[in-house]
Amino acid sequence: MENVKSWEGSRCSFGQVKGVPLLEPTVQNWELVENFRAQPDDLLIATYPKAGTTWTQEIVDLILNDGDAEKCRRAPTHKRMPFLEMFPVPPLESGVSQLDKMPSPRVIKTHLPIQLVPQSFWDNNCKVIYMARNAKDSVVSYFYFDRMNRIQPDPGPWDQYLHKFMHGQLCCGYWCDHVKGYWREKETKRILYLLYEDMKENPRDEVIRVMRFLEHSLPDDIIDRITELTSFSTMKENPMANYSTIPDSVFDRSVSTFMRKGEVGDWLNHFSPEESRLFDEHYEKMMSGTSIPFRTQL
Ligand code: A3P
Repeated sequence: MENVKSWEGSRCSFGQVKGVPLLEPTVQNWELVENFRAQPDDLLIATYPKAGTTWTQEIVDLILNDGDAEKCRRAPTHKRMPFLEMFPVPPLESGVSQLDKMPSPRVIKTHLPIQLVPQSFWDNNCKVIYMARNAKDSVVSYFYFDRMNRIQPDPGPWDQYLHKFMHGQLCCGYWCDHVKGYWREKETKRILYLLYEDMKENPRDEVIRVMRFLEHSLPDDIIDRITELTSFSTMKENPMANYSTIPDSVFDRSVSTFMRKGEVGDWLNHFSPEESRLFDEHYEKMMSGTSIPFRTQL
């Protein structure tokens, strides 16, 4: 495709689309993303970064393939379920180019806040699965990711990074706006809203919720199998689900692996008591009046 901005090999800077910080090449290719032609049987998996996108993707692909693990090892996650707003990272084409060549039904990943999702998804009444993760674990996971991913802007030190997260200055903007945006629309649009913590606590029940939303019906033993295949320990060893095919020039594994810990409450190892107090104060203000059942601010 002409005039598509690619990754140039060093850390990107931020641009903005409608006030939301996005990586500069995404901003430069924005017209392509905005004009993406969704189809009625497209399924969109949407998350704020680090909420468990890859986990959700693996569950969905296994359900759609009736628990057939071999079929789900046909390609790595990012090729099976392309990332809508991702610019080309040679030799990989942009998300839009990959999707244009893909047969239906397509499963599409996005980190865009709901107001930036291309209109064609809503015009076609596409189904959306949204996964949210508690804010404190999200920012910790995001920090490690931004340190190891050479595409992302330099995260700087932890204290400054936490400040940027709280003030919506990381890629995809405010965590609060992101989780609230999809929550508000879930009754009027076909959105299944999942929580990472529920998925950790009772993965089988959540697999069943996803299966029902996808209007699939699978026998109990296959549901068990999908639950086991999508556990952290199994996915961590699966090269088609753990991003180990991404070259070291992009992911610096001396800093962190993509499948890092997969736990609830790792923030306790990173926030100082004062950071936690300030964060909680800010959180209360930003989330007041919201009924998203994050069971705990942890
Ligand atoms: P941590 O960095 O806390 O380990 P995303 O796919 O949205 O980028 O999210 C990545 C986060 O989800 C990482 O969190 C990763 O370890 C975690 N994750 C991936 N697969 C998981 C699974 N099967 N179970 C639990 N957590 C998982």
